[in-house]
Amino acid sequence: MGSDGQKFSVTGDISTDVSERVAMARHFSAIGQMPFFQEISSVNPPRVGVRGRQCVLLGSNSYIGLSTHPDVVAASVRATEEFGTGTTGSRLLNGTYSLHVTLEKTIAGWLGHDDAVVFTTGYQTNVGTIQGLIGPDCLAVVDSYAHASIRDGVRLSRAVEERFDHNDVASLKDALARHAGTTFRRILVLVDSLYSMEGSTAPLEQIISVCKDAGALLMVDEAHGIGVFGPTGAGLSELTGTAQDIDVLMGSLSKAIGGLGGFVAGSQDIIDEIRFSARSLWFSTSGTPGAMAAAAAAIDVIRSGEGAERRKRLERNARLMRECLRPLDVELNRPDEDSPDWSPIIPIRLFDELRTVLSWNNLSDAGVFVTPAIYPAVPVGKPVLRVCMTSELSVDEIRWSAQTLAGELSWALAAA
Ligand SMILES: Cc1ncc(COP(=O)(O)O)c(C=O)c1O
Repeated sequence: MGSDGQKFSVTGDISTDVSERVAMARHFSAIGQMPFFQEISSVNPPRVGVRGRQCVLLGSNSYIGLSTHPDVVAASVRATEEFGTGTTGSRLLNGTYSLHVTLEKTIAGWLGHDDAVVFTTGYQTNVGTIQGLIGPDCLAVVDSYAHASIRDGVRLSRAVEERFDHNDVASLKDALARHAGTTFRRILVLVDSLYSMEGSTAPLEQIISVCKDAGALLMVDEAHGIGVFGPTGAGLSELTGTAQDIDVLMGSLSKAIGGLGGFVAGSQDIIDEIRFSARSLWFSTSGTPGAMAAAAAAIDVIRSGEGAERRKRLERNARLMRECLRPLDVELNRPDEDSPDWSPIIPIRLFDELRTVLSWNNLSDAGVFVTPAIYPAVPVGKPVLRVCMTSELSVDEIRWSAQTLAGELSWALAAA
């Protein structure tokens, strides 16, 4: 029984039933073991203050340390002083400032597309773009591990939806073949580039070839790839030389770029279509001046020699952490041969939600902050402790964190 008297399961999968989840959350709060909505009281990368202690941060998406970069912070402050704290209106009406337009031109040029449009969040970018591009007379074919915002966009569009097995090109072909006899106004295939919970990367070349054969458009969510992969940090599509074959390239301004917002880039026709149909762009206040200027400054760093150095440190750190975790015998993703052989995201699978939550608490008490992912962030029964690397961690911090992970997780891994 939970502390409020409601019944919930204490082993195995966390229920998909909301009232049971609320009961479980209340129980965890009552016993001081609540892993979600944790207050972070100070940020001094790679450390954060949590529950009154300084923890090594292995749970940030600021992959190359730009959310606290002095040039990025200064740009945000300057823009706030010049333009104010908010635009108070939608992009469509009074919320398009020169800062938004300049940022869009920069992004389009960087990613090699005709044009781009910036939204207030990455979530809104996916929802609005998908709802704008497809409707009930279209087919959406979605990787089963695609981000929730992609799935929500498809639902909102009311397109016919098909899922395919994660990163499985044969399964994608089968999903398309199931509808071969139907005429759709548009077929849209939707994938992430770097999967945020799995750390796996999409086999873009093969997916592009299948899309071309099927006459489908391809939309790739580079939320976690931008700033991390590629010679100029333009993402997995840059690294794999596939950017030109991606019809709709989505990114977030809130991960490696370090601030808040999202964007989509593509041909002029595609971007015009999105600009004049995406409801989340029209009916929500645009990104703040501070956020737009911070993103522009962060992109300057990403594209510079300094950005390349930061990516090198990130890669070194990610490889070192994987090496240090090898003795734990956790199932680390093995990338396929077309993919980069490293990723900053290392999922540790404990195969049980309660074990995952308790392990998160033990780690946080020991001074390591990771993120627990349970349903609906991951499928039911597939919880992970997400270890996420940044360029800011030192070799000593990585070795110490890996030792702490080994010590605190030994019981949970033995039980898994
Ligand atoms: C793959 C992916 N796409 C989109 C989003 C949404 O982006 P934002 O956080 O900028 O709203 C996220 C955020 O978690 C994500 O991981």
